Amino acid sequence: MSENWKSRTKLVHGGTRRSQYNEVSEAIFLTQGFVYETAEQAEARFVEIGEDEFIYARYGNPTVAMFENRIAMLEGAEDAFATASGMAAVSGALTSLLKAGDHVVSAKALFGSCLFILESILARYGVEVTFVDGTNLDEWRAAVRPDTKAVFFESMSNPTLEVIDVAAVSEIAHAVGATVVVDNVFSTPVFSNAIAQGADLVIYSATKHIDGQGRALGGVIIGSKELIRGTVEPYMKHTGGSMSPFNAWVMLKGLETIDLRVRAQADSALKIAKAFEGHAGLERTIYPGLEAHAQNPLVQTQLDGYGGTVLSLDLKGGKEAAFNFLNALTIPVISNNLGDAKSIATHPATTTHQRLSDAQKDELGITPGLVRFSVGLEDVDDLIADLKQALTAAA
Ligand SMILES: Cc1ncc(COP(=O)(O)O)c(C=O)c1O
Repeated sequence: MSENWKSRTKLVHGGTRRSQYNEVSEAIFLTQGFVYETAEQAEARFVEIGEDEFIYARYGNPTVAMFENRIAMLEGAEDAFATASGMAAVSGALTSLLKAGDHVVSAKALFGSCLFILESILARYGVEVTFVDGTNLDEWRAAVRPDTKAVFFESMSNPTLEVIDVAAVSEIAHAVGATVVVDNVFSTPVFSNAIAQGADLVIYSATKHIDGQGRALGGVIIGSKELIRGTVEPYMKHTGGSMSPFNAWVMLKGLETIDLRVRAQADSALKIAKAFEGHAGLERTIYPGLEAHAQNPLVQTQLDGYGGTVLSLDLKGGKEAAFNFLNALTIPVISNNLGDAKSIATHPATTTHQRLSDAQKDELGITPGLVRFSVGLEDVDDLIADLKQALTAAA
C-alpha cells in the first residue's frame, strides 16, 4: 500500500486487510467479539491493543478498520474513527474535545441537527458558543478568544450552499490554539482536501456520498493519530457511537466508486444549474459552481472549481409553488438524504430545517420557496426536462 497512490487507487485498495482465505472483496467480520488464546493474552490486550488486534466491536473491528484506513488514506490524514451516523461524528468530535467553561465559535448556517448540538446540547453542559456569518472572516477574527477551544463549520452549508474558506478560518483559529472541526459533507471527500487546508478534524456523514446509494447510516471523524486515538476514540468507544461492521462494509464498497459517481453528479449539477439560472419561475438558482455565486472564486481554489452535487432552487410563489413543484416531479424522489444515485428533492423549511424559528430561517435564506436538489446519476437531459415541466406546473 503506498501513500503515493493517486486518489482513485487509494479508494479501491487503501486499507485492505485479507483473512487467511485471501479473498478479493473485503470481508465482513460480523462479530462483536474476538477470542483470546489465553487469559494472559486477554489481559495484555486490555492493557494495549496492537495495530492488528481487536477486543470488542465498539472499540474496533477489522471491517471498520479497513474503512477507517481507506478514508484516512484518501484524506492524507493519519487516522480516522468510524461512527454510527454523521451526527454521531459531529457530536462525538465536539464533545470529546470540549468541557464546561470552554468557548466555541461556529458558523450559523448549519444543518438542523448540527445547530441543535451547538445551540442546545453544548449549552446544557456549560459550553459557550458564539455564532458568526461563516463567510465573513472579520466575524471569525472578532469572535475567537484565548479560551476558544474549537471552531466548527460546514465547509459548504446545508441548504444554502455558502462556501467557507477552510484555510483562512483555520489560520484564525490556530492563532488562539483552537481545534478546527469541519463538517465536509457537501464539499465531498472527492473535491475537498480540508486536512491539507488546515482543518484538524474532518467529519463526513457517510450516509451521503460515501454510501451513495441510500442504504446505510454512517459517519467518520478524520484527523491526526493524537486527536483520533487520544481524544476521539476514548470518548466514542465508551459512549457507544461506533459504526457497525456491516455498515462499514457498505461504506468501503461505496468508496470504491465514489470518485466516478460524485464527478458525474457534479457535472450534471452544473449543467442543471446553468439550464435554470435566470429562469422566470425562480428567485434564485444557488450552485457554488456558477460564476454568479458569491464564493465562486473560493470554489475555484478550495474545490478545484467543482461546485458539489447539490443545488438549491428558490421558487417564486413561496411554499405553494415549492410544493406544487415537488409534487409534479416524476424522476427525483421527495426525501431528505443527499449524495444518492437517485436525485432527491427536499423542502428544507418544512423538513430538515423545520425546527428553526422563522427569524433564523430568514437570516439563513431558508425561504418558503427553497427546494434543495441533490443530483443523482440519472441522465441529465431527463432531469432537466423533468425539472422544466415541474417548474411549469408550479407556476
Ligand atoms: C451537513 C450535514 N452534517 C451532518 C449530517 C448528519 O448525517 P447523518 O444523517 O448521517 O447523521 C447531515 C445530514 O443528515 C448533513 O447534511
